[in-house]
Amino acid sequence: MAERSSGSVNAAFGTVAAPVMAVAEAVDGTFGPARVGPLEPFTLHPFAHALHYASTCFEGMKAHRGGDGVVRLFRADRHAARMRRTAALMSLPVPSEELLLGMVRDVVAANLDAVPPAPAALYVRPLLFGTEPNIGAAASPSGTATLAVLASPVGDYFAGGVRPLTLLLETEVPRTTPQFGEVKAGANYAMALGLTLRARGELGCDQVLFAPGGRVQETGASNFLLLAEDRIVTPALDATFLHGVTRDSVLTLARDRGLAVEERPVDVDELLAWDDEAALSGTAATLSGVGALLHDGVRRPIGTGEVGPVTLALREGLMAVQRGEAEDVHGWTSVVAG
Ligand SMILES: Cc1ncc(COP(=O)(O)O)c(C=O)c1O
Repeated sequence: MAERSSGSVNAAFGTVAAPVMAVAEAVDGTFGPARVGPLEPFTLHPFAHALHYASTCFEGMKAHRGGDGVVRLFRADRHAARMRRTAALMSLPVPSEELLLGMVRDVVAANLDAVPPAPAALYVRPLLFGTEPNIGAAASPSGTATLAVLASPVGDYFAGGVRPLTLLLETEVPRTTPQFGEVKAGANYAMALGLTLRARGELGCDQVLFAPGGRVQETGASNFLLLAEDRIVTPALDATFLHGVTRDSVLTLARDRGLAVEERPVDVDELLAWDDEAALSGTAATLSGVGALLHDGVRRPIGTGEVGPVTLALREGLMAVQRGEAEDVHGWTSVVAG
């Protein structure tokens, strides 16, 4: 069984598996009951739809252990809703909210000993893929599918903790096909990988900020926000980028604190002229400050180039709710008992 120590969370994000998983199978588009048991490999027919036609998608949420020792899931209902929308858009069998949330809760409850103390957390990964053994099914959906819920104790997503990030500003190539940007299709991540690897490797950046046609969208794994003392500006939701649960939470906390929230198109000219704070939001990233952009080979600091006070205050506010240290006025957390 995984230790409740900081040892496992010093490992790279997502490389440590919690010992218990849940699995449910769909036949003719309908899911049977879930089994909860030890983490084990899948048995997959080599003709499986997902292997050939990328009918695979996932979610990512966290369970946090508070200072009081209690473990709370953060906005699991929103993640379940997004996964159901992803599954429908990808023509995969859609699990009921009840099945999916039940599996998430069961997996966290069965892995309670693997939930590390804050600021680390248990990352919960629902996974859905088409298993129909038919390599002639390029133009037909997979009626059979496997839904699994996995978990992993995680520490910081960005190595080095709280430090200002540098983003490569990509103004031509989109992260993925525009109509699938809003969902967590596995293929979206494969499509963004080449550019991200180049940004991280030879260019020394942390992530790529995709702004095809000069219109800012998001990075490979987080939403993007511009912040100032009195307001937040972020791209308005559309099909081209993921509708982040953390984005929604940060905007709500900002409104609660009296900041104006502007959800509207953000273009590269505005971004390059911004002299205040910028940040990435995501389940893995929480709210991480952006210090600089690499644009046309030139490194441009944003504001002071440091992680700013608005970013830090909202990050702390969000984490306090997640850990049960601040009042959960929006009903975002649910306690998981062993
Ligand atoms: C492409 C992309 N954008 C944004 C996000 C942030 O979404 P959330 O806040 O729901 O984790 C993620 C992470 O899930 C992501 O993969």
